[in-house]
Amino acid sequence: MPTPLNRSPLLSASLALLLALALSYYYYHHLIIASPSTSTHPTSPPLNPVETSTMSGTIPSMEGSHIALKENTIIVVLGASGDLAQKKTFPALFTLFKQGYLPKDVHIVGYARTKMDLAEFHRRQTVYIKGKEDAEIKKKLDEFTALSTYVAGAYDQDPPFQVLTKHLEEIEAKYKDNEANRIFYMALPPSVFTTVATHLKTNSYSTKGHNRIIIEKPFGKDLDSCREMMTALKAVWTEDETYRIDHYLGKEMVKNLLVLRFGNAALTPSWDKNSISNVQITFKEPFGTEGRGGYFDEFGIIRDILQNHLLQVLSILTMERPVSFSAEDIRDEKVKVLRAIPPVAREDTLLGQYVGANGKPGYLEDDTVPKGSVCPTFAATTLWIHNPRWEGVPFILRAGKALNEAKVEIRIQYKDVTQGIFKDISRNELVIRIQPNEAIYIKLNLKTPGMATRAMPTEMDLTYKRRFADALIPEAYEALILDAIHGDHSNFVRDDELDVAWKIWTPLLHWIEGKQGTPPKPEPYPYGSRGPSRLDAYIAKYGYKRTDRSYSWPVTNVSSL
Ligand code: BG6
Repeated sequence: MPTPLNRSPLLSASLALLLALALSYYYYHHLIIASPSTSTHPTSPPLNPVETSTMSGTIPSMEGSHIALKENTIIVVLGASGDLAQKKTFPALFTLFKQGYLPKDVHIVGYARTKMDLAEFHRRQTVYIKGKEDAEIKKKLDEFTALSTYVAGAYDQDPPFQVLTKHLEEIEAKYKDNEANRIFYMALPPSVFTTVATHLKTNSYSTKGHNRIIIEKPFGKDLDSCREMMTALKAVWTEDETYRIDHYLGKEMVKNLLVLRFGNAALTPSWDKNSISNVQITFKEPFGTEGRGGYFDEFGIIRDILQNHLLQVLSILTMERPVSFSAEDIRDEKVKVLRAIPPVAREDTLLGQYVGANGKPGYLEDDTVPKGSVCPTFAATTLWIHNPRWEGVPFILRAGKALNEAKVEIRIQYKDVTQGIFKDISRNELVIRIQPNEAIYIKLNLKTPGMATRAMPTEMDLTYKRRFADALIPEAYEALILDAIHGDHSNFVRDDELDVAWKIWTPLLHWIEGKQGTPPKPEPYPYGSRGPSRLDAYIAKYGYKRTDRSYSWPVTNVSSL
């Protein structure tokens, strides 16, 4: 007797779609594994040894003509004694080193103002590296510190940079040939970006190889200040030499979007206003500023998360198919779609600020936050894209600190099915969970298993930990530093992307800061809650419909239906 599964055309279609999703990841995974062992880095081991057996699914246009640095390379970390370097840059460099991805005989040189001896530098360099008690890791760590040295010096004078250069030249004197490549990683506060970039160009620029500079947000505070900073930087470093990090572009599920979107005929026809009702891109953090309030208050949640991370995700999610997967073709399409987005309107905005609850202090109780600050720690904003594909579809970008959970996800809600046959049937949703616990799942309506014929919402679930149990998913900074070594700009932010992004947010930011009259007062929400109480009404206003109450995930108790 055929099972109900065999009889359901909807389920067959669903399974086909799941297969397509699984295949797309399979192809993609081969791509990221394959690249080091093909053109770019012949001696490196793969990120995941499980997946190297075939080469199908490679994407030739992604390989491009980048110049990969394979040897004779020094990585200079500016701001080497600071938080970013210790928490992100050095651990990422160590993982790349451990896995054999760094250029042959690489050297790492730290530079910062703090005077310290080599032993103290090595202590700080490795303080956040995990697994040190493991003998293998300890051995690798010793090798890593053995190739790492430190120079102390000011950021605003030529002589200390000349000392740095002399140190670099001593290392380079031992190279077998004349080539000398330098990567400068700026783990620095924005106040010194331009000064340091200028001193590096004047004093420490290699004339015998490639120079690359890696910088990270904040790139200004609004359109004018960003333009000012970009102009100053571009006067000394070319666009080709510059790698602007938005670390969300290094996240596995964000990188996956290109293949998911353009590698699946099953998805392509429904990727537009005809099928999609609304899209939410959500960032939730379960902790507040916790002593980092001074920095945060100057920027606020919109500059910290929405203007860069969530907008980058939006641009890849909505751009047209690029001519190829080369860096410039991808970035051209991202800029095009961003240019179709008008500045965010005040009436499309909901702002919040957390207050003390559940034993946790409110934002204003953080000693580093200025008294009476109206800086939003939560923002929901709705963006509109004026092009034929997306006209009329609301894109809700929301982010908040001190919320009830840690989660970053994209939620695409489809329109209602044609009415007439069903009563209150749930909408389909495609959810891409960026973190934690990477997953793609689709909410679908199925017949309830058993004799009765009723519709119930359920899901096809592609949770990475289950489906790709052996996969090692790289940290964003690891993936991005490797891209910079390979000379691939695809996952870095181009100057014109920044410009158009600031155009979208600047008027709203100026209003929030009181530059256009009285600033709005953010709605208080309790630490550990879902956000301001008006949030559900806000989302519903843009057409989002909650799934039927009986929906529960991941296991549905049919007898309760
Ligand atoms: C940074 C923000 O850019 O991103 C932080 O400045 C935020 O405030 C962080 O916590 C979140 O990054 P991730 O990778 O933990 O999602």
